[in-house]
Amino acid sequence: MASDDAIGEILVEADALNRRVRELAQEISRDYDGRDLVLIGVLKGAVFFLSDLMRQLTVPVEVDFMAVASYGTATKSSGVVRILKDLDAVIEGRDVLIVEDIVDSGLTLQYLLRNLAGRNPRSLEVCALLIKPERRKVELQTRYVGFEIPNRFAIGYGLDHGERYRNLPYVAALKA
Ligand code: IMP
Ligand code: MG
Repeated sequence: MASDDAIGEILVEADALNRRVRELAQEISRDYDGRDLVLIGVLKGAVFFLSDLMRQLTVPVEVDFMAVASYGTATKSSGVVRILKDLDAVIEGRDVLIVEDIVDSGLTLQYLLRNLAGRNPRSLEVCALLIKPERRKVELQTRYVGFEIPNRFAIGYGLDHGERYRNLPYVAALKA
């Protein structure tokens, strides 16, 4: 990757990402053995994490996607969420695992959890690559978490700033 003035300190190295994704996949494979697992990726940020995670799973699994837009500024969500693309799959009676890139305030995920719970899945859990505990505004159960990061705007491994930097193989802080 070309050097870029906006890429600040590295928060999670590529090696650490790979190792943690493998561990999470082992845990999920154990927990969902014999179940009817559907991964729901939240576009677009979760695509990178999800595709790596999914390839390490040893249980049968399906994947589907949702796209949501949360109203707010570029770096702050408001909790008012609009569905841009809904699921193709019917999740009633199935074991649903939402895969997210990052949980910041938690407002987007809170909306998604309420929305999906209304469709009566058998189980509904969250796997988030990153969480920012200092910024959390609502209480949510995130069953699987990759890393806790400090209160910095993160880019890379799916995370964007103005749609750029998703392709970085590591997670870095955006330089102020
Ligand atoms: P929340 O509703 O505040 O939890 O924000 C959720 C969404 O905001 C995430 O799914 C990301 O798309 C985006 N977001 C939050 N923090 C960051 C960040 O540090 N870098 C890039 N995107 C972020
Ligand atoms: Mg997102």
